[in-house]
Amino acid sequence: MSTPAAVIKSEHTPYYTPANNGGAALHPTDANTPALFRPLTIRDVTLKNRIVVSPMCMYSAESDPSSPSVGALTDYHIAHLGHFAVKGAGLIFVEAQAVQFNGRISPNDAGLWDHSPESEQFKSLQRIVQFCHSQGAKVAVQLHHAGRKASASAPWLAAQAGKPALRAEQSVGGWPSDVVGPSGGAEHIWDETGDGYWTPRALTVEEIHEVVQAFAKSAEAAVRAGVDVLEIHGAHGYLINQFLSPVTNRRTDQYGGSFENRTRIVREIATAIRAVVPSGTPLFLRISATEWLEEQPIAAESGSWGMASSLQLLPLLSELGIDLLDVSSGGNNKHQKLVIHTNMQIDLAAQLRKAIRAAGASTLVGAVGLITEAEQAEGLLQGAVEAQAINDTVAGPEATADLVFLARQFLREPEWVFSAAKALGAKVELPKQFWRAIQL
Ligand SMILES: Cc1cc2nc3c(=O)[nH]c(=O)nc-3n(C[C@H](O)[C@H](O)[C@H](O)COP(=O)(O)O)c2cc1C
Repeated sequence: MSTPAAVIKSEHTPYYTPANNGGAALHPTDANTPALFRPLTIRDVTLKNRIVVSPMCMYSAESDPSSPSVGALTDYHIAHLGHFAVKGAGLIFVEAQAVQFNGRISPNDAGLWDHSPESEQFKSLQRIVQFCHSQGAKVAVQLHHAGRKASASAPWLAAQAGKPALRAEQSVGGWPSDVVGPSGGAEHIWDETGDGYWTPRALTVEEIHEVVQAFAKSAEAAVRAGVDVLEIHGAHGYLINQFLSPVTNRRTDQYGGSFENRTRIVREIATAIRAVVPSGTPLFLRISATEWLEEQPIAAESGSWGMASSLQLLPLLSELGIDLLDVSSGGNNKHQKLVIHTNMQIDLAAQLRKAIRAAGASTLVGAVGLITEAEQAEGLLQGAVEAQAINDTVAGPEATADLVFLARQFLREPEWVFSAAKALGAKVELPKQFWRAIQL
């Protein structure tokens, strides 16, 4: 009598699913395997491929502050993030998660300020992690504080009201009197035209210390929930970005003024996170590499955060325990001058990676922005292929990035990983439940 073939059940879920590893190369070390499908080990975490679902706010969490589910992820997020896991992404970012109640962009944002293992915020994150792990994907959280851009409405509510932005009143779960930033007052409203945003008040030094601790506590909770990778959101004009820029940070204490003072909060946050999470957990930092104000009158007046500042930040990264710089841009000032073209942000990533390698450092770089095609993504990683471990990257030839982050293309084409494998002729695993439908 023949023995029936055993299907290995996933050990990550309390229910039955065969353990999957879609999007993993069948022959990861084979010279013909494209760079996109080469695993990458960062500290104790190995990503099966170099394709990352970039963080994307879905504004789909409970907004009622009295509900135990406020800020918690839901079945919507299981379906949304889960299908990227089934469809082979190596690393999946849960959207930006607020580390404090008033750090949400909108009342419907996800959060991780309730650290108890019994909390809905914790349990819902754990559930996402378990599902993604059952499909062989790793999970990242982006720890976030919206600063002066907080207490806005979900973008579709503003659109329905015919406005570019619409602030959230207390009656819909907003917190108009507790919108904060490095500097306060009407001149620091993110966009003072119309009724889009609230007037921020300046954080006290004590409150800054609380923000720092909130990042650390959320990081620690995320790791307890099984999250593999942490990212500090230092981009897009949110709180940390507001501190970094001399345009938005007009403080005269130890958190404002010089480059050292303006970077203090992010340095303290990284240090506080590293102190409470295992040394094997990778830590990423997303920055706006430039706020695109170089030629603007406002920059002549106060200076701005441009590529020179980002280059100045680089030597600090490894000593802060930051493993990867996720290179985004803009979003901190409405006078930003963007010249939109495909390589707009990718070129910034290339420039920063080059400087990191020239300094003999091994900090990894993520490229994001307008990546849509398999060949394009593969091209960005050329030269980073032999990097199977963080220390090997130094020896490799010049690449633009070590990981590619895609956002909108995953919304348009959730099966992008499998399409990319097909386009590049890569042999990858497929989820067992899909075998009858697709072969690569
Ligand atoms: C719906 C949506 C939500 C987003 N939310 C976030 C977020 O939570 N955190 C963040 O850093 N970037 C966010 N972004 C920016 C993306 O992560 C990404 O950087 C940007 O869309 C450029 O990449 P793309 O051209 O591949 O879309 C969001 C983008 C979209 C389209």
